[in-house]
Amino acid sequence: MSLSLGLFMPNCSNMPSISRHNVAPNQWHYESNERIALHAESLGFDYLFPVSRWKGFGGDTNFLGESLETITWAASLLKATSKINIFSTIHVPLFHPFVVAKMGATLAHVSQDRWGLNVVSGWSQREFGMMGIQLEPHDERYQKTAAFIEILRELWSGNFPVNHSSKWYQISDGESRPVPSVQPAIANAGTSEDAQSMTARLCDWAFISLTSVDQAAVVVPKIRERARMEGRTVKVAVFPFLLWRDSRKAAQEELDRILAETDRVAANNWMNDLTAGSGSFDDFTLDMLASSGGAIHVMGTSEDVADQVTRLDQAGVDAIMLTFQDYEKDLRRFADQVMPLLSANGVI
Ligand SMILES: Cc1cc2nc3c(=O)[nH]c(=O)nc-3n(C[C@H](O)[C@H](O)[C@H](O)COP(=O)(O)O)c2cc1C
Repeated sequence: MSLSLGLFMPNCSNMPSISRHNVAPNQWHYESNERIALHAESLGFDYLFPVSRWKGFGGDTNFLGESLETITWAASLLKATSKINIFSTIHVPLFHPFVVAKMGATLAHVSQDRWGLNVVSGWSQREFGMMGIQLEPHDERYQKTAAFIEILRELWSGNFPVNHSSKWYQISDGESRPVPSVQPAIANAGTSEDAQSMTARLCDWAFISLTSVDQAAVVVPKIRERARMEGRTVKVAVFPFLLWRDSRKAAQEELDRILAETDRVAANNWMNDLTAGSGSFDDFTLDMLASSGGAIHVMGTSEDVADQVTRLDQAGVDAIMLTFQDYEKDLRRFADQVMPLLSANGVI
């Protein structure tokens, strides 16, 4: 039993594919998210993880255009559930660390410490441009994120007064009460050089994007080694897109249908924003981004899916945040068809 299960939740419209081919109605509404969360919890899943977006990607689908804000979303789901851990995602350009310290402490108290935070530096100038915010150069963005996390950690530690002076923040005699009884987990989801070094120094989780299952065996040890050099440990999560049918041929035909209906306008907007603003998706093709939003393809039959997830576990991955075509139906199928195989493999 080494691998934790999580869901990369459909709190945004049209997840996970940038395509007009949909097998289920949109699942971003809160009621649907709550049903999925409760089902995942009853299956023994450990984590729920949202997407934070302020603007969609246009095209016919306006990919991710409707989205539930992730702090308020987590507050609601934490009250609906009782065991599962739930993350929120914040963009550093939009929030002051004091606001996040207070919101996080509140959620930690509300949930008996089941809340965690994914910190995103920001990468879509289209998104922030609509608010009149200019993203800084990549390295400076991560310097600001590092300062943000350092202040947050200090405020959550209760070691007052907090003082900090940098290009980004001036904090004097800072305090924020209540403090959480344990420090909430902090994740970063960038794979760029800047992201990896900051994560090794300051974060608890690295949520990484990979182009293939095999790449995990190369990337995971590097992340662990970097953290070790900082005298720390960092857990690693990946996000697979699970697409399985009775035969490999049928699974491939379904992928072909998704790709044939790619929303090219939205997919190109997504790709252009990533190319300009991020260093984490340089090896991804348009088809890879369009079919799964950047998630690793884990495809074939249920046995193939179980084998590939087992390989992720063997590569040292700590958690997988699953994405599905139809979260409500596929979660049931996953429980019936894949979880018993993972259990037999000793993975869960
Ligand atoms: C699992 C995962 C979840 C992510 N969630 C979000 C998100 O909710 N909002 C967002 O703007 N970016 C999100 N990203 C993007 C990353 O946080 C990161 O900003 C992006 O990959 C660019 O990183 P880089 O600038 O270090 O290359 C996510 C990435 C991954 C792999």
